[in-house]
Parts: sequence; C-alpha cells; structure tokens
Amino acid sequence: MIAQLHVSPTSFITDLRELHRQYLPLRQGKIYVSEPDLVEINPDWFGICIVTVDGQVYTVGDWEQPFLIQSISKVFAYGMALSDWGRDYVVSRVDVEPTGDAYNSLIKVEENSKRPYNPMVNTGAIAITNLIEGKGPAHRLNRLLEMYRRYVGHRVFVDTPSLVSEQTAGDRNWAIAYLLRNFGMISGEIKQTLDLYLQQCSVIINCHDLAVMGATLANNGVNPMTGEQAIHSDYIKDLLSVMFTCGMYDFAGEWVYKVGFPAKSGVGGGIIGVVPGVMGIAVFSPPLDKRGNSIRGIKVCEELSRRFGLHIFQS
Ligand code: DON
Repeated sequence: MIAQLHVSPTSFITDLRELHRQYLPLRQGKIYVSEPDLVEINPDWFGICIVTVDGQVYTVGDWEQPFLIQSISKVFAYGMALSDWGRDYVVSRVDVEPTGDAYNSLIKVEENSKRPYNPMVNTGAIAITNLIEGKGPAHRLNRLLEMYRRYVGHRVFVDTPSLVSEQTAGDRNWAIAYLLRNFGMISGEIKQTLDLYLQQCSVIINCHDLAVMGATLANNGVNPMTGEQAIHSDYIKDLLSVMFTCGMYDFAGEWVYKVGFPAKSGVGGGIIGVVPGVMGIAVFSPPLDKRGNSIRGIKVCEELSRRFGLHIFQS
C-alpha cells in the first residue's frame, strides 16, 4: 500500500526518521495535566507510527510509550452511538457543524440551539456518550472497552488515577453536563454520563494502537491486523466527515487547508490521522499549542501530507 504513495518501504521509514529528528528539538508548548504532580510527563516523548490498510507497520521514536486517548475517544464513541441508534436519530441529537471555538467552550450551547454543534467538542461528546446503550454503568463501560478492543486488536484499560483526577477536578465538564440536561439535550443521571465520558477519555493506548485504530477507519472499519470488523462500514463516512470538519477544533479550517486528511487530537498529546484506503497515522508528543493540539504532531502531519501528497483533494 505504501507503493500507492510512490515510495519504497525503506525510503518511507527513512523519511519518518528524518521527520522525527527534525522536530524533536521543537520544544515549545504546554503539557496537559488534570492536576499538578499527578504523573511525570516527559516533553521529549515523541513517537510516530503508520499502519497501512494491508497491515504494514512503520514506527519511529517513542511509539511504545503509553498515553491517554483523551478527546480522540470522541470519534469512537460517536461510532458507537451511530451503531446503537442509526444516523438520523444521532444527527437529530447532535449536529455536525464546526464551531470555531475551543473544545470545552460553552458559548454555542443555548436554550434555542436545540442540540450541541458537533460530536468532537465536549458539549456534543457528552451528549453522544449519554446515548451509549447498556443495562447500567458497568455494562456501558464494558461495551465501550469492547469497542476499543475491536479497533486496537487487544484489550485496553482505563487509567484509574487519571480518571479520579478528572472526576474531581473537571468543574467545567460538570457545568457542561448540567447545562445540557437543563436544555433537554441529555437525560438521566449526570454523574453516570460524566463518569462514562471521563472513562472513555482515560483509556491508555500507545502510538501503535492509535495507528491501528486509524488504519481500521481507513480500511472501511476492518482492523487490518486482525481482520475483525470494528464498526459497520456504513458509518465510516460519518466519522471521517466530522473528523475532517471538526476534529482539530478551532484549527480545523487551517488543518483541512494545509494537511487535508481527517484527523482528531487529544490533550494527551496524540493525533490520529486517516488516509482513506491507504493508512492510519498516529503521532504522539505531549507539548500542546493553545488549542490543545500536539505541536510536533501537527508539524509531522503537515510534512507527511506535503511530501506524500496526502491531501484528499490533491490531484
Ligand atoms: O474533557 C476533557 O476535558 C478531557 N478529558 C479531554 C479533552 C481533550 O482531549 C481535548 N482535546 N484536545
């Protein structure tokens, strides 16, 4: 599949190593922590992994370093809501319009807006998590972890200290959840929905896992390493569309212009990119810009897109 990019596997890995060397010294940015001194995060952790739809794997740097999936989970939770309820109902509950605001902004949720703007920002994501089906909180969490397992190819787990910290410190998400219920955009117990949202964000993965998840989306929902269908192919275009227009928050427009493939970032420092029919891309580097996107991650994706013509409108 890498041949589709008109490059040999050896020169591709040489390119990835070169990008890693080029951007490692880029030491700007702020690291996200839910509370001070909870964990040590090295600003120089920097991993890149690419997995093609035919199962080739290319890795560089700290690709084995575990990190929190955080907001990247929003894509996969959206896929679950679509599978549980179907497209029409889900779109009637959460719109698909980019906001141009920060990921945790409340500005655009008002009484007369009827539904949150999109599933990639916190308001929409919390409303989506509220739709995940299950007999109770534990069953819903198990369904979520089972969904991740299909994409990753092995079981994944919630990092308990991070979860506890986000549960106690996340006033803003509590505020969002209460406001959503006040506007009739979510129903049921706030704590249960918020717990599930924070559990979905607190799952630990590494760059290799993330690239396999991206490759699964690039491969019509079939995990290229295991052959398992992680999500019905009908929903792939819905997921990729919202990633494309809303995945990088208030940087989404510039991202589409410069990079041009669907992507999603998380404050854990991960970025997942999907080149449909070709490959999944994962970059991990904790320092973030003011919008919450990994600085090295953006650079690597921009450069990969430029070097290999990955913009989806590139002729
Ligand atoms: O909702 C939150 O505040 C976090 N647990 C996740 C935020 C996140 O990753 C936003 N992304 N850039």
